[in-house]
Amino acid sequence: MTLKLAGLVSALALTAALGACATAPGGSEMTLPAATAPVAPVAPAFAYADDIHSNARPAEARVKHVALDLSADFAAKTLSGTATLDVTGRVGATEVVLDTKTLDIRAVRDARGNPLRFELGAMDAIKGQALTVHLPAFTGAETQKIVVDYATRPDAAALQWLSPQQTAGGQKPYLFSQGQAILTRTWVPTQDSPGIRQTYSARITAPADLTVVMSAEHLTPQGEAAGAGKKAWRFDMDRPIPPYLMAVAIGDIAFAPFDERTGVWTEPSRLQAAHWELEPTAQMVDAAETLYGPYRWGRYDLLVLPPSFPFGGMENPRLTFATPTIIAGDRSLVSLVAHELAHSWSGNLVTNATWSDIWLNEGTTTYFENRIMEVLYGRERALQEQALGWADLMAEIAVTPPDDTRLHIDLTGRDPDDGLSGIPYDKGAAFLRTIERIVGREKFDAWLRGYFDRHAFQPMTDVGFLADIRANLVKGDAALEAQLQLDNWIYQPGMPSNAQAPVSHAFEAVDVAAKAFFADKGPASAIDWKSWNTQQRQRFLAWRPEGLKAGADWLTNAQLADLEKTLNLANEGNAELTFAWLQIALAHRYEPAVATADRFLTSQGRRKFVLPLFQTLWNEGDWGRPIATRIYAKARPLYHPVTSRSVDQLVGQS
Ligand code: BES
Ligand code: ZN
Repeated sequence: MTLKLAGLVSALALTAALGACATAPGGSEMTLPAATAPVAPVAPAFAYADDIHSNARPAEARVKHVALDLSADFAAKTLSGTATLDVTGRVGATEVVLDTKTLDIRAVRDARGNPLRFELGAMDAIKGQALTVHLPAFTGAETQKIVVDYATRPDAAALQWLSPQQTAGGQKPYLFSQGQAILTRTWVPTQDSPGIRQTYSARITAPADLTVVMSAEHLTPQGEAAGAGKKAWRFDMDRPIPPYLMAVAIGDIAFAPFDERTGVWTEPSRLQAAHWELEPTAQMVDAAETLYGPYRWGRYDLLVLPPSFPFGGMENPRLTFATPTIIAGDRSLVSLVAHELAHSWSGNLVTNATWSDIWLNEGTTTYFENRIMEVLYGRERALQEQALGWADLMAEIAVTPPDDTRLHIDLTGRDPDDGLSGIPYDKGAAFLRTIERIVGREKFDAWLRGYFDRHAFQPMTDVGFLADIRANLVKGDAALEAQLQLDNWIYQPGMPSNAQAPVSHAFEAVDVAAKAFFADKGPASAIDWKSWNTQQRQRFLAWRPEGLKAGADWLTNAQLADLEKTLNLANEGNAELTFAWLQIALAHRYEPAVATADRFLTSQGRRKFVLPLFQTLWNEGDWGRPIATRIYAKARPLYHPVTSRSVDQLVGQS
């Protein structure tokens, strides 16, 4: 009741104010009602959303632009040079606070090169160290420049420095960054909060035989000579982005276009396969624009990384970073491209103001992703993917503390990375599908398109989302308001009563076959595996007996052997299917699968695969822990810090 009232009141206040402050890219200050504080109906107090994961105090002084001039040293594993920040401030403000973590700050100067006084605060295990820089008092809307002279450390959590052996070509080293959620501060000293949008430019110097790419416009496609054996590459991102989207990769990479505005980068020996697999990208951009309005970032390219990339994909603007595990040979996993592309609207245009509302990024994107898939591959395929997500969601809710099954999550005292689950993705998508079902697709699409337009290049909160949907879709219709249960979806645990499970008819036969094999102990030869697509195969391997208890065996060794042999699971090339098989096999202490697990865990570092498999092994006590420890000793040096830090928390423990 209180919640609902606060929402309605702020809806009115916000609508008025949002109209007034909607701006073009690079426009005026973007301010928001705080996510939690109630907003008064008269003279609303607009403020930056309070981001507990940043030391920045943007209401005092805030960074508007970051200009990097960095040199990559592969022997020392450092990026070093300068970050020149354009800072604006409230009249009278005399300091700006930046986020840093594991950075060596050598000096801070003004535009003329005169030293500025600065302090590095105490190290917080999650937030890192505040870098407070003292400035002459701001007198108005002027911009002050500060030049931070610094170097990253070899263990910077955002960066992975790969040896030549860790690349496909085996000849040249490789570097890539991963900023989300709060890792940008380990390679760029700036205000690292998603509500503080910044434009950026960069000049990156690297060994002359390597190519540099960034999440920005490439100003020097061939690089420029930069002294002995070096080249410099320049970039510009002229639209304000949240700092977690700053990204760089350096390596032996080549490019192949799909059409005039899309293409793929990867190591030369992988380019042909990646190009064939990901060719639907061009059509996806067209489909996305038809659905929800113009693509506002110019080019859309993909970078397929070496196998240690810790995520499936990362929506760095203009240049999605992707795992090579989606190159399955049959285009079966291209929904990942649809997902990262969709972020060009949900996330990159309209951005969660704090990590408590990551559902605004990931849930909206998961919904949008599925709409793109429907355009390209039809309704039935889209329903299959919805049904897979729904089943994952039900399984995850069943084992997650209720507080963490809300869309708006409480991250007090937590690293946003640790609070990350599938819930913001699949519950968020189910939320939007519920609204779509109730109001009808036409009205829903018009609203969502308008939402992206109204809030383009601005941060968004739970409160802002509710205000927008009430002002522009519900429009005071009390019956509709009651039917939607908007507050329940965002603030209550579990699933609201108006949620409906998606039904895929193509899964009916799969479910019958799964029951016949798994429950009724029929032969694997009766499974119609060859005629199924990847999603049907995933459905089959995700089957579990109802009410299965953790640690309980539900298959015999003979069944596992039959399955492995008949479906040729030891040689499966699709990473999603290998993963699903290993989850079953390792939970049963099925010895012959250990070699497959060893190969899989030492040949890719995608956290979504790696962490659950180590967890499954770890759960198998005396049997699994020595195996986990042995494999991890080999695998750990291959993983990105994002993955190894997560596995350390599990396998590192005694
Ligand atoms: N933005 C996420 C990745 C991410 C989320 C990184 C939170 C750090 C913190 C990306 O868009 C994503 O969701 N990737 C998924 C793939 C997707 C198809 C569900 C992944 O990596 O598995
Ligand atoms: Zn995502």
